[in-house]
Amino acid sequence: MERLQKVMAHAGIASRRASEKLIKEGRVKVNGEVVTEMGLNVSSDDTIEVDSVPIAKEQKLYFLLNKPRGVISSADDPKGRKTVVDFFSHIDQRIYPVGRLDYDTTGVLLLTNDGELTNQLTHPKYGIEKTYVAKVTGLINKTAISKLEKGLNIDGYKTRPAKARIIDIDPKKNISMVELTIHEGKNHQVKKMLKTVGFPVEKLNRDKYGFLTTEGLQSGEWRQLKTFEVNKLKELIKE
Ligand code: URA
Repeated sequence: MERLQKVMAHAGIASRRASEKLIKEGRVKVNGEVVTEMGLNVSSDDTIEVDSVPIAKEQKLYFLLNKPRGVISSADDPKGRKTVVDFFSHIDQRIYPVGRLDYDTTGVLLLTNDGELTNQLTHPKYGIEKTYVAKVTGLINKTAISKLEKGLNIDGYKTRPAKARIIDIDPKKNISMVELTIHEGKNHQVKKMLKTVGFPVEKLNRDKYGFLTTEGLQSGEWRQLKTFEVNKLKELIKE
């Protein structure tokens, strides 16, 4: 569900502010009824009319980007750094990332203009599974793995049970590769979890978001999701 004025703005009717004015003036109908109060939530099943003319429904777009390092996961950056949305500058619709990856984190990132699906996928209630591979300083051990799995305190918050696995340990270089699967998305969560158990992250890649991977995509490459993949994502949040 999304706010009526937001849906109108996305459909190119007017800015959000101007759409609010149209609503106040009684010029907007939802499913045939005039709506004048602000903040009504509508879904893609609702019919919206302005001056009795139905608004064109915005085509929903879904992309998977293999995010490179050195790119910000937001629609714009006050410091003028490259953003993940810059990869899609040829697209008229306003798309935005589903959640965030840090500036220096690489891997699977979804982008869409489907606000409803974004809200659901990022809602903790659904706990979409995200798998990360981290290169850490130090030689990781079973005690650390078990702490990561059981949950630990970061910023006064206990992380939910996770899956962790040692991929490789390199005593010569004093580094290890660890796979961590979590169902949450707190700020810098993976880095904080690994630092808390004594293994600071040097490099981080998100290998999987739900069932989606970067297979076939070089760093900085993207593809549109297939219809069956979008449907499968929607199934995940029904479960
Ligand atoms: N956890 C992190 O610490 N960073 C990310 O970018 C994603 C998850």
